[in-house]
Amino acid sequence: MPETTEILPKSLALRPKSLGNGFEVALPRSQTAPLPAHVIAASEEMREIVSVVRAIAPTAITVLLIGESGTGKEVFAELIHDLSARKGPFVTVNCGAIPEGLIESELFGHEKGAFTGAIGQRKGFFEAAQDGTLFLDEIGDMPLALQVKLLRAIETGAFTRVGSTTPQKTNARIIAATNRDLEIDVRAGTFRSDLYYRLRAVMLRIPPLRNRREDIPFLIETMLEEFVRKHRIGQMPQLAPEATQLLIDHEWRGNIRELKNTLEQLVVLVCAVQKSDGPCIISARDVERSLASSITGWDGQQFERALPAPTGVRENPQSERELIYRALLELRSEIAEVKDMLRERGMTAPATNTLALPAAATGHQPIKSLDELETEAIEQALNFYHGNRRHAASALGISERSLYRKLKEKGLEQG
Ligand SMILES: Nc1ncnc2c1ncn2[C@@H]1O[C@H](COP(=O)(O)OP(=O)(O)O)[C@@H](O)[C@H]1O
Ligand SMILES: [Mg+2]
Repeated sequence: MPETTEILPKSLALRPKSLGNGFEVALPRSQTAPLPAHVIAASEEMREIVSVVRAIAPTAITVLLIGESGTGKEVFAELIHDLSARKGPFVTVNCGAIPEGLIESELFGHEKGAFTGAIGQRKGFFEAAQDGTLFLDEIGDMPLALQVKLLRAIETGAFTRVGSTTPQKTNARIIAATNRDLEIDVRAGTFRSDLYYRLRAVMLRIPPLRNRREDIPFLIETMLEEFVRKHRIGQMPQLAPEATQLLIDHEWRGNIRELKNTLEQLVVLVCAVQKSDGPCIISARDVERSLASSITGWDGQQFERALPAPTGVRENPQSERELIYRALLELRSEIAEVKDMLRERGMTAPATNTLALPAAATGHQPIKSLDELETEAIEQALNFYHGNRRHAASALGISERSLYRKLKEKGLEQG
């Protein structure tokens, strides 16, 4: 398949069209390949996005994905890559997670001795994504100073490693994502307008989950299946009709990510620890409790969160495990949410907007840094799974590779 294909008109949508003479117009794979089973796009809004994705996937055009945190920007970036028939890898860079001083060498690589600590030559993400796709997540966090170099790399395909003068060539397809309003950043002078317009050659706005509730029942079904498999539950749980309704009606400020966390919690708390042999039924009460016990949204003022009630469950080891598990699940969604919020608020929050922390963190205990919480979660997970890294990574919601990297970074790596 050629690297660039013309965007197909909408009239040539989806299925091969018969010409009536027994011949069919062959459509590119991107138009006909089924969506991966884990990608749900049932609502009208999402089906429209999928049809655009199918059309642009095989091209080299730059795509900007915008939408609230948890709406599926990364899922769609990967879908574009999967439907593109590109041979190289899909490489994700979270621009907000890399310390500012390191972004350039992370993106473009560096030569030996380029700076203190550069003990060897290192390839950057642009090189890693050769023949593939480079996904620049949280692009709004890209420091102004680097935006020019990024624009040059996108426009000309040329970049230089830190400490080198020899230009390198990249053919990586660029997809960027943000939950910020970049137009505001452009007006504020923190984001270059030329880069903004270059990135948004195609702009896809992924709607929040509350604006496409038709997707929710399908998401529930797929995710329940996933968690039943992951937690080795013998049977599919049944959701009471009122429970489903509650899930459909909820605000989902954290979008699909929050729905997913809620369902995992329900599967584990209701089904994994169920005592009787009967079917596992998730009631409306279970859903209410789960929605109340997690950080369900950010209203700018406070976390809504009920403390877990450990009454009378301490006497057997199974309940002990349940408690640990529950703590782990909460900690995990907490870290993700807090990180997202800090990122979202970091650059725009007025000084008067204080960040309210959960009661547990503001009471008498000293406030822990995210880094410490992360270390704790990792240690808990590894203990819980007796050092099994695959299971620990899965419980933490990160890839095994990320876990290895974190262990290394934190100096916890051994045995
Ligand atoms: N269309 C979808 N179908 C099924 N799961 C989805 C879909 N979109 C997102 N998810 C799931 O929701 C979570 C958040 O998605 P992600 O792409 O990371 O969101 P974002 O990058 O916008 O914050 C992930 O666990 C992802 O697998
Ligand atoms: Mg994301």
